[in-house]
Amino acid sequence: MTVTTRPRTRIFSGIKPTGHLTLGNYLGAMRRWVEEDQLKADALFCVVDLHALTVEHDPARVRRLSRQAATLLLAAGLDPERCTVFLQSHVDEHTRLSYLLECTATDGEMRRMIQYKEKSARERADSGSVRLSLLTYPVLMAADILAYGTDEVPVGDDQAQHVELTRDLALRFNQRYGRTFAVPKAVHPVVAARVMDLQDPRSKMGKSHASTSGIVYLLDEPEIVRKKIMRAVTDSGDDVVLDREARPGVANLLDVLAACTGARPEDLAGAYRSYGALKKDTAEAVLELLRPVRERHGELCEDPGYVDGVLRAGAERARGLARPTVDAAYAAVGLLSPA
Ligand code: AMP
Ligand code: TRP
Repeated sequence: MTVTTRPRTRIFSGIKPTGHLTLGNYLGAMRRWVEEDQLKADALFCVVDLHALTVEHDPARVRRLSRQAATLLLAAGLDPERCTVFLQSHVDEHTRLSYLLECTATDGEMRRMIQYKEKSARERADSGSVRLSLLTYPVLMAADILAYGTDEVPVGDDQAQHVELTRDLALRFNQRYGRTFAVPKAVHPVVAARVMDLQDPRSKMGKSHASTSGIVYLLDEPEIVRKKIMRAVTDSGDDVVLDREARPGVANLLDVLAACTGARPEDLAGAYRSYGALKKDTAEAVLELLRPVRERHGELCEDPGYVDGVLRAGAERARGLARPTVDAAYAAVGLLSPA
């Protein structure tokens, strides 16, 4: 009797080492990678260091942040026995495939990307020019995903448009050259898919925002976390209601508390009579959530050889997985394979 086993779902996601990782990264992406994805699927998680070069950067800082991001992924609970953790620049297949996808995408598609519009405006204002790689960034991201035959891409809401573009490119490539890529879909957390800046609750909590007072970093000292949350901008009025449009500051705190405790934000709204009490409980819940991550990060920093070993083995496995797909794509578009 032949037993046909369905191949395991393939999951891929990535995180940029452009700044210290935040509570938004944790609630929007990393926590799900740890608690669900690595348990249910063949999952790869990548520190996408090449993406950090799309804006002005200091080489020493990128080096430091790449190592820190990888260490934090492990500290948060990614288990190298269950999933693959690696650095993007260690696997050449990403850039190899990216070029073929540049030959699949159009410049109009790139210019329509919301993140490009926002970031290019900021870069132009700050440094007077925009790197070409900022425009082509979503193509490299598509290559990250498509090289692995990925089915699911667990990300925060802000990445939905990039994953949609990745789907379009996969479909277009397959239609032109024959089925080569799996067509992936984005998956987002139910609560806290977009954690907002505590000082500017209409903008996303992003790691490279100019002012850091509205951003909770995973490695902030507990006292700092408490202070940032207690000083969060709330809205006029003093009753706690969930209204994302009119009361974005309070809604953000309710979402964060809900994500930490597993309660529903609408139920929590009814349970509080003052902003002060809501902030206090949110601060304590966030601290409780981050405490084990901080502790484990401290331990892993004592053993950099271990982290290096994980990244080396991860890159080796990733290379082996990506190679056949990327080779097949090269052959499909008409490039001769080296004899
Ligand atoms: P990045 O920091 O842009 O590399 O993002 C890494 C992952 O974290 C992506 O899946 C993002 O969607 C997610 N993420 C980043 N910031 C936030 C946020 N403020 N809220 C929710 N998810 C976020
Ligand atoms: N662009 C993503 C972000 O800014 C990071 C990223 C790069 C990514 N490649 C990826 C996410 C592949 C998921 C899959 O957050």
